[in-house]
Parts: sequence; structure tokens; C-alpha cells
Amino acid sequence: MQTIISKIDSNDIDKNELKKHSELLKNGETVIFPTETVYGLGANALDENAVKKIYEAKGRPSDNPLIVHIHNKDLIYDLSKDIDDKAKKVIDKFWPGPLTVILKKNDKVPKTTTGGLDTVAIRMPKNDIALELLRECNLPIAAPSANISGKPSPTNGKHVVDSMNGRVAGIIIGDDCDYGLESTVVDFTEEIPMILRPGSITKKDLENVIGKVEIDPSLLNHEDNKKAKAPGMKYKHYSPDAEVFIVSGKNDDVIEKINSLIDENDKNGLKSGVLCLEKNKKKYKGKVISLGENFKEVGRNLFNSLITMDNEKINVVYSEEFLDDEVGMAIMNRLLKSSGYKVIRV
Ligand code: TXA
Ligand code: MG
Repeated sequence: MQTIISKIDSNDIDKNELKKHSELLKNGETVIFPTETVYGLGANALDENAVKKIYEAKGRPSDNPLIVHIHNKDLIYDLSKDIDDKAKKVIDKFWPGPLTVILKKNDKVPKTTTGGLDTVAIRMPKNDIALELLRECNLPIAAPSANISGKPSPTNGKHVVDSMNGRVAGIIIGDDCDYGLESTVVDFTEEIPMILRPGSITKKDLENVIGKVEIDPSLLNHEDNKKAKAPGMKYKHYSPDAEVFIVSGKNDDVIEKINSLIDENDKNGLKSGVLCLEKNKKKYKGKVISLGENFKEVGRNLFNSLITMDNEKINVVYSEEFLDDEVGMAIMNRLLKSSGYKVIRV
């Protein structure tokens, strides 16, 4: 497939260039666009044939439902019904932004979009290019992360083009994504809202607005992963070609352990990589990528660093652990999946 690739400046959006892509969407084609979380691979959410092209381009299982993107809060009434007051409150507080709400779907939304479910996931992204594109085509756009299914989600234009050129009709390259982790997914169809996927908007953030919020228990115990309530959470996910291990323990012990593992790998002809906080960067051997000075930066850099490790043909990646009860939860959720839950404790 010939892919139309456009680089668009978010500070000075070229409307003519953008229109090419909104036309593709109106014609039932797929377009990749930047959001504040990760790049999304979009198509008309109300057109089953268009949605099928998303699943094909990603190689995604068809029971894994998609998030529908809108440019105006009121569009939730076009797509869903029985909307809980708590959902309205968080939408008012956090949209546009990295939060997805699960609501009961109405008849307009095809089950191809919702992976066969009676609920629909909706979000309003906080990215000027995404919002302008949604406004211009005036359609709800279903968009999963723009990676081949199972791989880390792309957060910059180069990684999108590397893996998706020829698989979609259009690609819009914008800035690197602000957050780098996918949106927090919250189910509002039960009495107490439940986080199905942790993200940059945390349990605390939500509870400040609506009181008690639960976390899908399967997120806290990986043995339960297969029972995850968000279908997408049960699949192998975010996995680079390299084998990933998380190393857990006191800072100095972790450094010593990783360096000794790297020595072993060297002997066996394996190339090693390390993902760490900036403060530890100079203490490691191997290919070292600092993910940043704080957890917000770690979130932003995690996926693109995993992809960089693959581009550098690294065989084994060791990551430090990033624990806290805020964005650390989202980071560790992605890292644990990337590693297939392989944690080395020292
Ligand atoms: O930040 C994001 O959310 C990005 C950008 C592009 O918006 N999108 C994204 O989509 O991450 P995707 O398809 O990679 O992940 C959607 C997640 C999956 O875990 C899926 O199972 C869950 O949301 N999900 C979608 N609809 C659902 C529903 N009706 N009920 C439960 N989980 C749902
Ligand atoms: Mg995804």
C-alpha cells in the first residue's frame, strides 16, 4: 500500500496537508496520528470495514476492543448511553487528556469496534494535530496504539514510519508524545469505577474528583493476568525483540548485579542494554539508556528506548524498577509485560 506521509508542525498546522488525511478517514482508510500519549492508528469507528483495516494493519486479535477518539466532550452522547455522573465529572476534569472512559455503547457503535462488547471506550486526546484531524473529518475515530500487535507503542514519528509505512493509508508525523504511556482506562459501567489500565492519570487523581476507585485486581497480581477485564491487557504486549529483565533491590545491589550479568553475557557473545534513572547512568556497562531524572520522564521515554534497544540489536535488556503508587504503577505495568514478568530480585 502506498502511504501518504506528512510532517505537520503542531504550532502551525498546515490545513491542506491535514485535509489529505481527513479525506482518507472519510473514505474508510487508516491514518496514523500523534496524540499526547502514544501514536494512534485510526479509522472511522462507525464503519466496520474501516475498523477491520485497523486490526489487519496491526495484526491484532479481533476480540481486543478499540478506543474511540472524539474532539468534543458532548460527542459521548452520540456513542453511549446511561452515562454515570462520576464519568461526567472526570470527563469535565481531565478531558482533553490521557483518560479513557468505558461506557455502555449505543446501537450506532458496531461491535467490530468494541471487540464484541456492549461497552465502548472513549477519549478526547490533548494534542492539537489529533484534535484538528478529528474536527476536520468530523467522525469518531477508533484508534489503538500504532504498533504491530505485541510490540512497544511508538511515541515518535520515526518509529511509526519504520514499522508502519506501507501498512496504512496515511501517517501524520508530529512531535514526540508528551506522556509516552497509553491513557488510563476506567470502567464506569459498574457501581464503583475501576481502573482497567493504569496510566498518567492516577488512582489518586481520580479519587480526588469522584471518591472511591478500584483497580482491576488482575493488574496487581500477574498470575491473574488472564482474567484482566480490559481484553487488551491479557495479551503478550510491549515486547521488543530483546529479552527484558527487571532487576529489583537496593540501588547499589541492582547496579552490581546488572554489571555482573553483563559480564556473563559478554562472555557468551550477547549484547546487553540497561534502562535506568539518569543518576545511575554512568555506573553501568553495556548500552545504557537513561530514561530520565523522574518518573514522568521515565514514562515518556520507556517505549522509545525499548525500540531503540532493538534497533541497536541488543539481545538482553536489564531495567531498574520504578516503584511508587502514582505513575510508577503504569510504568511497572508496561515493564512487567515487556519482560514477560521476569524479575530478578537481589
Ligand atoms: O493512549 C491511548 O489510549 C492510545 C492512544 C492512541 O489513544 N490508545 C491505546 O489503544 O492505547 P489500545 O487499543 O492500544 O488499548 C486499548 C485498551 C486495551 O487494553 C483494550 O482492551 C481496552 O483499552 N478497552 C477498549 N475498549 C474496552 C472496553 N469496552 N472494555 C474494556 N476494555 C476496553
Ligand atoms: Mg496498544
